[in-house]
Amino acid sequence: MKLNFDYNSVKAQFPAVNRKVNGNPCIYLDGPGGTQVPQRVVDKISEYLLHHNANAHGCYVTSIETEHIMENGREAVADFLGCEKDEVAFGESTTGNNFKLAFALARDLKPGDEVIITDIDHEGNRSPWKLLADFGAVIKSVKVDKKTFTLSFDDYKEKLSSKTKVVAINWASNATGTITDVKKYIDLAHEVGAITIVDAVHYAPHKPIDVKAIGTDFLVCSAYKFFGPHLGVIYTKKETISKIRTIRVDAYDNTEPPEKFETGTPNFELISGTAEAVEFIADIGKNHADYFKDQLKGLAGRRKNIVAGMLAIDEYEEEMSLVLKNGLEEIPEVTLYCPPSDEPKTSTVSFTVKGKNANDVAKFLADKGIFVWDGDFYAIEIINNVLKLEDQGGLIRLGLAPYNTMDEIHKTIHAVKEYCSL
Ligand SMILES: Cc1ncc(COP(=O)(O)O)c(C=O)c1O
Repeated sequence: MKLNFDYNSVKAQFPAVNRKVNGNPCIYLDGPGGTQVPQRVVDKISEYLLHHNANAHGCYVTSIETEHIMENGREAVADFLGCEKDEVAFGESTTGNNFKLAFALARDLKPGDEVIITDIDHEGNRSPWKLLADFGAVIKSVKVDKKTFTLSFDDYKEKLSSKTKVVAINWASNATGTITDVKKYIDLAHEVGAITIVDAVHYAPHKPIDVKAIGTDFLVCSAYKFFGPHLGVIYTKKETISKIRTIRVDAYDNTEPPEKFETGTPNFELISGTAEAVEFIADIGKNHADYFKDQLKGLAGRRKNIVAGMLAIDEYEEEMSLVLKNGLEEIPEVTLYCPPSDEPKTSTVSFTVKGKNANDVAKFLADKGIFVWDGDFYAIEIINNVLKLEDQGGLIRLGLAPYNTMDEIHKTIHAVKEYCSL
């Protein structure tokens, strides 16, 4: 049986796809920098601002509605991550959430304590932890294999010790799409008593997340990468967050999780939009629950639909990704930067063109209405220092989303071929 993904009805929900550049319909391959947003998410944000706008904890109707909307947001994201609603907190961005967590953990660090980060991570999951050096911590970064673009578990094991207090690890690379088996890193970190943080920003738009299955203490992701607004989401394991002295205002109503991780007035309208992005994924899943019934055993309700939705998105994207990779591989000037076919990865495809600056390739595609990212995407360590691609402008990155189509993939391959034959 083949997945029957109704991409026409999915695509029709994104008004952005109607835009043209130089007469060409836009092809959005910039998803890893932020996906497009369906109309229903925008409607929810407007609805909040137009009809429910208030601060929380008042005794009048819009304030009471605001609290319901906040609760609903936590519940939806909890179903998305596979946790309890009190384990979900919101913040401005993933980078912001990590900085806030790093400052909280800094209070209990002693000089000589060690923190492990990785060479494959975005700076949003490196810089906040590198900053702990200012508080006396020793920072160690796990190496990446230059040929397979995978993290070295052996190097991690060498760096991990009883001195390790924090391990910040990447689930999927926003540069190469590499997926790391984070569970085995987390299990070892917990054996030495370290706290774990997983960056799932690039993983979240492509694969279902189950925070309990990987056992992490914290996980960060950003709603704008999975069809929502610009908002950061953090999973805070109850047993861990309850022991941490978070950065917060001295007030009586924010001492318990999840509020104890949040500062200031929450972004209610964006939380409402994020919940709707999760509902969008769940609605996709409703059509595919039968197809994925073996993987959905034991799941029910919205969680089941979300997992089905993510599995459907993943399978749909993977088919396009394979065609994209094969098509690009046939172009002699192109070098792909993707893990080997037997390694787990997302649908993202990154490449360089021999003798050309990545920015020139991206500009050529942009003129044709094909939107792609070029550069280091803040994955500075792997792209500039490990792969040494800075002089040629880094990588060209093609990201796939459920609103993309096979026809767009063929057009993109054709455009890259055209560029290479100039
Ligand atoms: C893998 C990864 N981690 C972290 C971030 C930072 O997320 P935010 O922009 O929400 O701070 C990004 C953003 O592109 C990312 O791709």
